[in-house]
Amino acid sequence: MSQMTAIKNSEVSHLAFLNDVLSGLTKRQKTLPCKYFYDDKGAALFEQITTLKEYYITRTEFAILAAYAPAIAQRLPPKLTIIEPGCGSGKKVAYLLSQLVNVRAFVPFEISTEMLNYSLTHLSAQFPSLVISPLQGDFTHSLTVKQLSKETALDSHTNLVYFPGSTLGNFDPLTAIKILKNFHRLCGINGYILIGIDLIKSRHTLLDAYDDKAGVTAAFNKNLLTRMNNELAANFVLCQFSHQARFNEKHSRIEMHLVSDCCQTVMIGEQKIAFKQGETIHTENSHKYTLASFKKLAQQAQLMLTDTWQDEDGYFALCLLRPY
Ligand code: AVI
Repeated sequence: MSQMTAIKNSEVSHLAFLNDVLSGLTKRQKTLPCKYFYDDKGAALFEQITTLKEYYITRTEFAILAAYAPAIAQRLPPKLTIIEPGCGSGKKVAYLLSQLVNVRAFVPFEISTEMLNYSLTHLSAQFPSLVISPLQGDFTHSLTVKQLSKETALDSHTNLVYFPGSTLGNFDPLTAIKILKNFHRLCGINGYILIGIDLIKSRHTLLDAYDDKAGVTAAFNKNLLTRMNNELAANFVLCQFSHQARFNEKHSRIEMHLVSDCCQTVMIGEQKIAFKQGETIHTENSHKYTLASFKKLAQQAQLMLTDTWQDEDGYFALCLLRPY
């Protein structure tokens, strides 16, 4: 990448961040897109969250994969191409790759060129004979997915789209359907999708997972304020905001909010944003499904739920979907 392109890209992302912040914070219910959690510090905090006792998601999904890898492998044909949208460092797919024999190729699909290079380097060291063909782009953009699948003739192979971690839950249902349609296109009519979903469980287990005792999730949430201070010349006083996790029963989702502890005005550059005491910024949704509600969602993307694997407590499910 030339220096000029790098400068342009960073200007674009700065402008996009500013626009999203100003439009989100001038709404009646103030909001911020959860994708902004993941700068370097946020990504490190998220890694820490995945190791917390209260945050059952990561370890439960891994335990399901470890226990059922042979059963999952049996449901898949040989010479698979595994595509992982939003693969990040490629850490999650490594275990799956180690369990499946006869994988033809791996396609990391990422927006960040840095992450793509990182996953390429690390996975090729770990799996020297694996063909790795990176795709750069945003998997939530239908046009990008359409174009990339055409250009790369992905459908000439048997593909498995792997989407672990219950990330789908961070999107509202309409966007989740759009994303599942993108996955349908990516895997092709003869393909497969293996996806992790978080299941509905007791309110207190859910709330604890998003409001841990050590305060790591609170720091993760408040890092958004630090990012706005550092990158958009904002002046949020961090100790005047509190982290809050809520369970929204109607929408079957955990919501994260940042609550203003007092009446205050914050500057984002030249723009004043007023907060009443108790007013919140809604920063994240994490939808929780039943197998039936997820099956219905998948059907709207012409995908059939063919197999599910769960832990003993029914906390989490790995689901295999096929186009129809
Ligand atoms: C990335 N995603 C699936 C996490 C979740 O559980 O919704 C993000 C997260 N937010 C707070 N804790 C973890």
